[in-house]
Amino acid sequence: EETAMVEDAILGYLATHEVIADSGQFAYEHGLDHNEVVNVIKSLHGFRFIDAQDIKRETWALTDEGKKYADEGSPEVQLFLAVPPEGSIWMDELQKKLDPSVFKIGCLQAGKNKWVDMGKQVSRKVQHVEDKVKNLLIQIQDGQTSVSIYSLIGLIGLSNSKFLGGPVDEQGGDWKELEFKEYNFNAKGPPAEAGHLHPLLKVKDQLKNMFLRMGFEEMPTNNFVESSFWNFDALFQPQQHPARDAHDTFFLEAPSTTRKLPEEYVELVKRVHEDGGYGSRGYGYEWKREEANKNLLRTHTTAVSTRMLYALAKQPFAPKKYFSIDRVFRNEAVDRTHLAEFHQIEGLVCDRGLTLGDLIGVLHDFFSQLGMSNLRFKPTYNPYTEPSMEVFSYHEGLGKWVEIGNSGVFRPEMLRPMGLPEDASVIAWGLSLERPTMILYGISNIRDLFGHKVDLSLIRRNPICRIGIN
Ligand code: PHE
Repeated sequence: EETAMVEDAILGYLATHEVIADSGQFAYEHGLDHNEVVNVIKSLHGFRFIDAQDIKRETWALTDEGKKYADEGSPEVQLFLAVPPEGSIWMDELQKKLDPSVFKIGCLQAGKNKWVDMGKQVSRKVQHVEDKVKNLLIQIQDGQTSVSIYSLIGLIGLSNSKFLGGPVDEQGGDWKELEFKEYNFNAKGPPAEAGHLHPLLKVKDQLKNMFLRMGFEEMPTNNFVESSFWNFDALFQPQQHPARDAHDTFFLEAPSTTRKLPEEYVELVKRVHEDGGYGSRGYGYEWKREEANKNLLRTHTTAVSTRMLYALAKQPFAPKKYFSIDRVFRNEAVDRTHLAEFHQIEGLVCDRGLTLGDLIGVLHDFFSQLGMSNLRFKPTYNPYTEPSMEVFSYHEGLGKWVEIGNSGVFRPEMLRPMGLPEDASVIAWGLSLERPTMILYGISNIRDLFGHKVDLSLIRRNPICRIGIN
């Protein structure tokens, strides 16, 4: 009965609100039992009706010592008040007026704060002091959470200060009266200073090894700036293609155009766009060199693949397997699954007589090593591949098919102007590095993984990458 009521309250609230940020707060505001609320959230989550996350909140409670200071004032203020406003007081007299521990801590702190002059006689150095420690303690007592880390550190120092007694006289045996903190042999040492790899780098490294084991060579991806020619035109992507539009592409202001393109090849690319050839009708539009010259931040690593295939075509033909993993840029609205810059994984195989069957086989090989052996393919369109397939994998956690990559067989309109032989074909695929990394590390918002909002302790804490172990 209680459960049904709590369930109604939660689902009713979520019908009009996007999130319940804090179950404790929610229970309090709706007069519900927090344990019951947590139980209901867990069961709704189990049935996948809602998405829920554990949050932890630290609360601070005062020790007995803290309570005393919240009531009576901090030791340093107690000490200060025990010193007369004018003139001075003998040290031993002052000591008699105060609790031993209050006296000890008070002397230390009031001295440090430069509130009093301390010698055989003690006198005030300032007229008025503010009891910040007491105020903070009261705030903590009232459950106010706005206490800054700095102040808390101050308080911790204070409650330990009884262990910071004066110099110990070993001959005299004073140490026998002193209170010592016990050794804690179970305490961990301070964490070692060390660099830590970002999850993306760990997954990248694993993928790199995977490609290398499969006999792929890495392509050089160090050019983030590319010309439109290599990013689009050489890929048979028409100049009016919406992806070239400034909405999707970051164009460079300076230098805004490329200085050098391989002229003979440019001529062949122009011709295939305008009139076709190699069995194609082309696009039948007037191809403009100015468009091809425009510099941009590469929108995909297929620009690199294109350069590599062009270089390959200059050599006597030999089969090749290439891969790359590096950064690409798209002028997209940023949300929980999109960033304006991300990483692409790309693989290609170039050989005589490759077919769609080879592509499907290679994709199965590749993705099963990532732990995704249940694949499906869906026809799609890329200007530079035909046929083209989106790759889907069944996601156990989400209970549905999710898109994990794009692939295809490069068109003759792309390969033949480069000079590759007629019977050579190239199968290729691409996917983002962020997608598998987020799945492996259980991260649901891409901004938690990459960019200026990343929590650095995530990078320190995250475990080693375990592709291929499961
Ligand atoms: N370049 C494509 C993308 O950016 C991926 C791809 C690579 C598709 C190779 C087909 C072949 O999404």
